[in-house]
Amino acid sequence: MPAIVLVGAQWGDEGKGKATDLLGSRLDYVVKFNGGNNAGHTVVIDGEKYALHLLPSGILTPGCIPVIGNGVVVDLSVLFEEIDALEARGIDTSSLVVSANAHLIAPYNRVLDKVTERFLGSRKLGTTGRGIGPTYADKMSRIGIRVQDLYDESILRQKVEAALDVKNQMLLKVYNRRAVEVDEVMAEFLRYADRLRPMVADTSLVLAKALDEGKNVLFEAGQATLLDVDHGTYPFVTSSNAISAGACTGAGVPPTRIDRVTAILKAFTTRVGEGPFPTELHDEVGDRLREIGREFGTTTGRPRRIGWLDTVIGRYAARINGVTDFVITKLDNLDTFDEIPVCVAYDVDGVRHDEMPMTQTDFHHAKPIYEVLPGWNSDISGCRSYDELPANCRAYVEFVEGQVGARVSVIGVGPGRDEVIERHSLLGHD
Ligand code: GDP
Ligand code: IMO
Ligand code: MG
Repeated sequence: MPAIVLVGAQWGDEGKGKATDLLGSRLDYVVKFNGGNNAGHTVVIDGEKYALHLLPSGILTPGCIPVIGNGVVVDLSVLFEEIDALEARGIDTSSLVVSANAHLIAPYNRVLDKVTERFLGSRKLGTTGRGIGPTYADKMSRIGIRVQDLYDESILRQKVEAALDVKNQMLLKVYNRRAVEVDEVMAEFLRYADRLRPMVADTSLVLAKALDEGKNVLFEAGQATLLDVDHGTYPFVTSSNAISAGACTGAGVPPTRIDRVTAILKAFTTRVGEGPFPTELHDEVGDRLREIGREFGTTTGRPRRIGWLDTVIGRYAARINGVTDFVITKLDNLDTFDEIPVCVAYDVDGVRHDEMPMTQTDFHHAKPIYEVLPGWNSDISGCRSYDELPANCRAYVEFVEGQVGARVSVIGVGPGRDEVIERHSLLGHD
């Protein structure tokens, strides 16, 4: 009956969606607690591919209640597009619950996300352009619009007017864009208000009751540890808390109720957007790994930057998230490599660092120190038990386990729902 937080250990796209889906039938609730439609989770069920952005991955499992927590930023048109697309494919989305306290992505924030990036030029962050950063900034500046505001039209208008006082100055005077009309914003928000109404709830209360009743609740992070606004590679991060602690603020559950933390660690490293990346490969090995892993963004279609596994990052993720279990994904993507370098420490201007450097300047200077492990040169996608894996493959897993300091409980050997090896239950029963 645990409350489990599931996080990404690296820079996103580790396979969180698939891991959530794997647990799906054993879960009563799946809660998204941070981010918005900047996320992109691909889940493959019976050969059918589903790409989810805003909805929690648990929505694909019948009987599992998907929850959008207060820490999420919601683009209403994307929400209903995604719901309609899933319904058209026969997925029942009727049990979705949305927090009354979640913030809404306003049209001016989508515009501002894109124009600020353009103005930054070569200093840009490479955001997804979905309005995520400006919406979280409004939340902190206390000029945000929340789901509950949709149901008090005069308050909604006052809040939109107050926000536009600031936003239109910026759009007109800084970015030389046209001003946004109050009515335009009101119309976009109110278009979905009636449809959304039955889904809106005090989700913190819903989850407290569920946990009291002994339900299995999974808190699924968008993004990942190194994209966390406080603990990631700032400023090349997203604007929310993507680490395990974010589940508490982003869903309204106290830390004392969290039982387990699972981190998803891809067998190599990827990153989309700008920012430092010590193990990045700029050669044909990187291109080969990108092709094998089909590493192109689910949200923006951008080719993902590629590098070898970095266990300094894995260790950091274990510490900052309090990881109880790791899931290694995409191990099958390494099947054809004769040698597999794994970064175990950094050389920063001649000094060895076994832990993440304290400053971003040092992290930018970090050169990976590799240990090279032998490959296994065989197809592991058909393996379903740990013993079936080739000896070199098991040695790789155990090496990683030793480096990151927490057990590897699940191993992904393919994109499909059943293409996994479960060594231990993520629910903590063994
Ligand atoms: P997320 O954002 O963390 O949910 O990850 P994405 O869905 O953006 O990217 C992960 C990709 O890897 C998806 O296309 C998955 O279908 C795929 N995937 C997940 N686990 C495995 C695995 O173990 N093996 C292989 N080959 N693909 C996997
Ligand atoms: P999932 O959940 C990978 C990156 C963007 C950019 C930075 C800030 O699929 O792992 P934002 O639009 O959030 O302000 O962009 O964060 N980013 C992601 N990278 N996976 C994601 O989500 C991401 N969500 C945001 O590329 O570098
Ligand atoms: Mg993704």
